[in-house]
Amino acid sequence: MKRLLKIVSHHVIPSEARDPQFFGPSLELQIPRIFSPRCRGSEGLGMTRVTLLGVVGRIGVMVLSIALLLICVACRQDMHDQPRFKPLRESDFYADLRSARPPVEGTVARGQLHEDAYFYGGKIGNNPGDYMPFAVTADVLARGQERYNIYCVPCHSQLGDGNGMIVQRGFRRPPSFHTDRLRKAPLGYFFDVMTNGFGAMTDYASQIAPRDRWSIVVYIRALQLSQAATIADVPTGQKVPSEPPQLRGDPPSGATLPELVAKPDGGQEGK
Ligand code: HEC
Repeated sequence: MKRLLKIVSHHVIPSEARDPQFFGPSLELQIPRIFSPRCRGSEGLGMTRVTLLGVVGRIGVMVLSIALLLICVACRQDMHDQPRFKPLRESDFYADLRSARPPVEGTVARGQLHEDAYFYGGKIGNNPGDYMPFAVTADVLARGQERYNIYCVPCHSQLGDGNGMIVQRGFRRPPSFHTDRLRKAPLGYFFDVMTNGFGAMTDYASQIAPRDRWSIVVYIRALQLSQAATIADVPTGQKVPSEPPQLRGDPPSGATLPELVAKPDGGQEGK
């Protein structure tokens, strides 16, 4: 205290008033003089009252402004603190107490209005239809081949004879696509098997989009034509580049190499 007093008196108080006795009992009241030059030089109780009033006034203003600031802050609504429902929480705002509102009756999720029943089901009424819902181009066939090789080959094999790798490892053998029954099956039938599954085969509706399923359908049809083609199917004027190779025994499955029957003239492939 004494030290503080000395510093204060040294800087502010005129030299004749440096006697510690002079300040002694009213130290706290004298200090505001430093901040209030107006009062400098005034003496006794009068001076003290003026200074005190100033201080009280200042504190009042400060308290008021803090209160004002607090009021303003309280009025603010931050976005991270907005009124909202927690998902599926109960709410007494609605009569049924559900905060999650059911969609308006007849609502269809965007992109799920399957108006074209044939495109999405392959059926006309209850029977499979036999036409493609869109034009077939080379691109569609290529896409179908790619998708078929990804999704169907493990069981049905690249040839479609039902001798895929999984079957060779013990899975149930699917029928060959080259039986009379499946050759005559309408296009929509294949679409339906992929969409809804068939016997031991699960459906592929979630893995393969409808358009891709149709592309596979048309590729299977091409595969069936390719495996049953005769020389009569070749358009007139178009030459067959080479005779098909003659194989000994059954067509190879991939696990064994094909065994070619030697041609009498020892001719080479691709002549
Ligand atoms: C995991 C093996 C497996 C895969 C992959 C698979 N299938 Fe099959 N598929 C089968 C089996 C097994 C059957 C015979 C089911 C039965 O008779 O119970 C079958 C039957 C079929 C049939 C014939 C239905 C009939 O009338 O006899 C068609 C057509 C067919 N699958 C198409 C496909 C297509 C197209 C794909 C690719 C998108 C595919 N399958 C993928 C195992 C598979």
